[in-house]
Amino acid sequence: IEIPYTKGISSSKIISDFYNESITPERRLSTLSRLIKNKDISRFIETHSPISALIAQNISVNDTDNVKSYDGFWSSSLTDSTQMGKPDIEILDLSSRLNNINNIFEVTNKPLIMDMDTGGKNEHFALNIKTIERLGVSAVIIEDKKGLKKNSLFGNDVKQELESIDNFCMKINSGISKRSSSDFLIISRIESLILEKPMNEALERADAYIDAGTDGIMIHSRKKSGNEIIEFAKLFREKHSNIPLICVPTSYNHIYESELAKVGFNVVIYANHLLRASYPAMKDVAEEILRNERSLEVDEKLMSIKEILELIPGTK
Ligand code: SPV
Ligand code: MG
Repeated sequence: IEIPYTKGISSSKIISDFYNESITPERRLSTLSRLIKNKDISRFIETHSPISALIAQNISVNDTDNVKSYDGFWSSSLTDSTQMGKPDIEILDLSSRLNNINNIFEVTNKPLIMDMDTGGKNEHFALNIKTIERLGVSAVIIEDKKGLKKNSLFGNDVKQELESIDNFCMKINSGISKRSSSDFLIISRIESLILEKPMNEALERADAYIDAGTDGIMIHSRKKSGNEIIEFAKLFREKHSNIPLICVPTSYNHIYESELAKVGFNVVIYANHLLRASYPAMKDVAEEILRNERSLEVDEKLMSIKEILELIPGTK
């Protein structure tokens, strides 16, 4: 369902048109595999709350010949943890992550890819993916690290260790064997480049994970140039023409989606941008009110009271 965004339509109109479009978990879940089959590249964006997901779902921009919008949501371990004031070290338990996702699902209908960190112990992973699939999540991404998980964007600035290929393949397998629908994707995230290992190692892991039955590969990098991501994609595509390939262009943010699509990426994830947008805005307003001992000066930075009262249907 698409509505063109036209300047002048209030944000309340944008949200209310979609608010009552309910969707079953099965239908939402299967949307991602349909997108991958039918689109050159799909665009997912981090949503850490229902309101951020409503923005992500309903915003669209008119281009010369098409209307651009986001295809779905990314449930990020970094922003889910950060918005709870906790470190991104797998400290949030599954119930709290799923509670957040369920709240997002309550008011939206687009598909969601869940960052599942390392996936935990193999036995736990196998059971947990059943719970996650039942909710209607379209894909989980698990990363091939072990020990105390730290955020990938630290690279080797902190202690991080790769899981062995064999153990990770067993984890993939334990998940695949427990899912109900092949539309529920179990995607493997390769951290070799994050930890400065050679390109060959990353490619070798991709081959092994695909042999073990993974549905897709996410290759991560923290290099600013993006060169290694492009090189990986080209080499990967020589061997694997149909396996979905995903990237997270946080550091190589100058590369256009079309260039990523050209080298073979199917999905691009903007992994932390909505939380990173809201934090400085909130901090700025909080500071300004303190400075002025009143809120008149910040008023023009805020949505109006009329707008917030009209935003969510049924408020009046
Ligand atoms: C996240 O969004 O939590 C991710 C992507 O895992 S990154 O922060 O780049 O590791
Ligand atoms: Mg994460």
